[in-house]
Amino acid sequence: MIHERHTALITGASAGIGAAFARVFAENGFDVILTARREDMLVTLANEIESRYGVSAYVIPEDLSDPAAPQRLYDEIAARGLDVDALINNAGYGVQGNFDEVDWQVHADFMAVLSTSLLQLTHLFLPHMKTQKFGWILNVASLAGYLPGLSSGATLYTPVKAFVVKFSQALWTECRGTGVHVTGVCPGFTYSEFHDVLDNRADMDKLPKLFWMNAETVAQQGFDAVMRDKPIVINGWVNRVLSILPRIIPETVLFGIADWKNGGKK
Ligand SMILES: NC(=O)c1ccc[n+]([C@@H]2O[C@H](COP(=O)([O-])OP(=O)(O)OC[C@H]3O[C@@H](n4cnc5c(N)ncnc54)[C@H](OP(=O)(O)O)[C@@H]3O)[C@@H](O)[C@H]2O)c1
Repeated sequence: MIHERHTALITGASAGIGAAFARVFAENGFDVILTARREDMLVTLANEIESRYGVSAYVIPEDLSDPAAPQRLYDEIAARGLDVDALINNAGYGVQGNFDEVDWQVHADFMAVLSTSLLQLTHLFLPHMKTQKFGWILNVASLAGYLPGLSSGATLYTPVKAFVVKFSQALWTECRGTGVHVTGVCPGFTYSEFHDVLDNRADMDKLPKLFWMNAETVAQQGFDAVMRDKPIVINGWVNRVLSILPRIIPETVLFGIADWKNGGKK
C-alpha cells in the first residue's frame, strides 16, 4: 500500500550533512526519523523541522557503534507503528593515527558505525521497500572512496568509503526493477562538524575555498540523485575532477607523492 506521506530515517542527523538531509527530505514532504547519539541536538532539529515544514519528526537516539543498535532501532520504529520508505545511512567520522597505534576498540567502533550498521540497517529496511515496490536508500560515502589509500593515519577511512561506493553500486544493480532506488553520495570537503571531531580544523582551514561545499548542497544533490535513480553522485565539479585523477595518473607517481608527503621514509 502506498502511504500518502513517506517517512525517511536519517542516521547521524544531529549535525552536518545528516541534519541537512533531514531538512531536505522534510521540505519534500517526508516525515523524518532522526537518530544519532546527542538527543538534545536531535530534539532541537525535530522541533525546527516540525514547525518549518509541517511534517512529523521523531527522535530515536542510538549509538551505532553498539552492534545491537540497528536491530534496536528497527524494533523501536516498528513499535511506534512507523514504516521506513527512505533510509539515509549517513553517520560517520574519521580516526587519526597509524593503524597499529590506535586501540582495536576504536577501529571496531569505526567499522560498526561506517560499515556494519549501514549494511544491517539496509538489510532490515530493504525488504519492506521491495514489498511496497518503492523506496530510496542513500549511502553517504566520500570522494575518498575514489582515491587510493595513501593517507598516513586515518588508515581505514579510504577503504571503508570505497566499500560503501561499491556496495551502493552493487545494490543499485540488484534493485533494478524493484522500485527501490539506491545512491552512493560522494562529498569532498564539506562544512560540518567532521573536521572538529577529527581535530584537524586548523589545517583544513588552510585549504582554498574552492575545495569546500556546504552540507545543504551535498544533501540536495544526494536527494535529487536518488530520486533520479542515479547509482552514484560525486558532489561538485572539483570533486568530480579529483575523482578522475587517480585513474589517469600512474600509481607509482601517486605513491611517490605520498612518500614525499610522509617525509620520504622507506
Ligand atoms: N565533512 C566532510 O568533509 C565529509 C566528506 C566526505 C564524506 N563525509 C561523510 O559524511 C557523513 C556525515 O559527516 P559530516 O561531515 O556531516 O560530519 P558531522 O557533522 O561530524 O556529523 C556526523 C554525524 O554522525 C553521527 N555519529 C557519529 N558517531 C556516531 C555513533 N557512534 N552513533 C551514531 N551516530 C554517530 C554524529 O552524531 P552524534 O555525535 O550525535 O552521535 C553526527 O550526527 C559521514 O559519513 C562522513 O564520513 C564527510
